[in-house]
Amino acid sequence: MSRYTAYATGNSDGSPRILVFAGSTRADSLNRKLARATAEALQRTGLQTTLADLRDYPMPIYDGDLELAEGLPPHAKAFKELLRSHDAFVIASPEYNGSFPALVKNAIDWASRPEPGEKHLATFRGKTAALLSASPGPGGGQRGLRHLRELLEMIGVTVLSTQVTVPRAIEAFDSDGRLVRTADIDAVSRLASDVGQALTAPAAAA
Ligand code: FNR
Repeated sequence: MSRYTAYATGNSDGSPRILVFAGSTRADSLNRKLARATAEALQRTGLQTTLADLRDYPMPIYDGDLELAEGLPPHAKAFKELLRSHDAFVIASPEYNGSFPALVKNAIDWASRPEPGEKHLATFRGKTAALLSASPGPGGGQRGLRHLRELLEMIGVTVLSTQVTVPRAIEAFDSDGRLVRTADIDAVSRLASDVGQALTAPAAAA
């Protein structure tokens, strides 16, 4: 059995697997709430969905000397394996200073590092992604997603044109963290349905 068989994507029945995570580790993160709402919408469409939390994968800032001495840090390796075992990534990322947070860039940088016997960018190439952002501001985090889209495309990920931004997000969730505005609920449902379509008919949805 190949060393990487364990990372093969899709379930035993061949159905695609989707990994959802937020680009924030903050306890009351708006983007974590949005990630959860999106994971639930994906599950409602029947897609095999994993909701992950980057708080469970604390990792140092990428350091080439550390990598040379010790390889990938344990949480970076675990997060990379999580990415590898999924066919699509759905990321709800905050906007920081018009871009996406270092937390997300760092996790992707570590996961992009090849390990012995592994093909270049094997974690990312040929995968699909969809992006969302929630912000207390009026822009909904749209500017940050532009940069995140560009990065993912650079490493071989097809990023769906459908994306969701939730502006004035302080008012967008109830006390249980559920979306309350019809427009946001509909946008998240549409994105979930587009992810499903892209994974069953990739050529049509790209
Ligand atoms: C922000 N925030 C922010 N918001 C925005 O809409 N555009 C921006 O450029 C920025 N820039 C920015 C920089 C830094 C360093 C921080 C810490 C914050 C505000 C941000 O959207 C807000 O803190 C969100 O609540 C962060 O997302 P979570 O943690 O709630 O998911």
